[in-house]
Amino acid sequence: MKIGVFDSGVGGLSVLKKIKEKIDFADVIYYGDSMNSPYGSKSIKEIQELCLNIGEFLIDNQVDIIVIACNTATAAALDTLRERFTSIPIIGVVQPGAAMAIKQSKNKKIGVLSTPLTAKSGIYEKVIKTLNPKYEVFQKGCDLLCPMIERGWEDNDRNTKLLKSYVDQLPKDIDTLILGCTHYPLIRGEIEKLIDKKIVDPAEETAMHVLFELNKLALKNGFKKSRKEKINIDYFVTGDIDRFKKVGERFLGEELSNIYQPLIG
Ligand code: DGL
Repeated sequence: MKIGVFDSGVGGLSVLKKIKEKIDFADVIYYGDSMNSPYGSKSIKEIQELCLNIGEFLIDNQVDIIVIACNTATAAALDTLRERFTSIPIIGVVQPGAAMAIKQSKNKKIGVLSTPLTAKSGIYEKVIKTLNPKYEVFQKGCDLLCPMIERGWEDNDRNTKLLKSYVDQLPKDIDTLILGCTHYPLIRGEIEKLIDKKIVDPAEETAMHVLFELNKLALKNGFKKSRKEKINIDYFVTGDIDRFKKVGERFLGEELSNIYQPLIG
């Protein structure tokens, strides 16, 4: 079996990391669209077009499931992708993240840090309120974080100040904070130093959803789920491969090989 995972760059590696921890019987194709990053300041239409191209690329490469490892792409294009590619399951990160935050929050006040597009779409509030209307959701769009993480975030005073300026705009009485951009788990340590709340990384629950869907598929199609010594991961990166490799290796703590430039992008 093969899982297709995509993001606007290195952020989806936070989802890949959790998938690798939970699933040892499926290979992965990871697509990082860093040439078109950040998605968070593009229009919905532009993101939908980019995502449709990536979806086609992944389907051409015979994936059995697509994971949109990007909140912004989930907000802008989950429905579009599901309408176009009806033959395989497509999973986004928002629903799992929202469900997890509801389980964590005691005072029913949840903060979300995300890209401007995700914040403006109000998707976390919509999903959380659909699950339970009693919860309050406060969203803050952070325009500069994703590009800075993509370039390899540096731990210095200027960056900490910027991060603090975003965190400080959240109400003080939230008890749970969703990392509503898959890039943010790459600087989770820095965020935790600035805010003492329960942190929700949607990647954790997303990986559980992927496992659930793969188990269903295996049952339905009679696939054998044989455990592999090492799953194969091919990375397709539209932008700077060296930078992706450097930032990705620092986050995952292992060497990344099999990195290619896709023909589209
Ligand atoms: N990792 C993407 C997300 O979760 C970042 C989007 C962007 O490129 O702005 O939203």
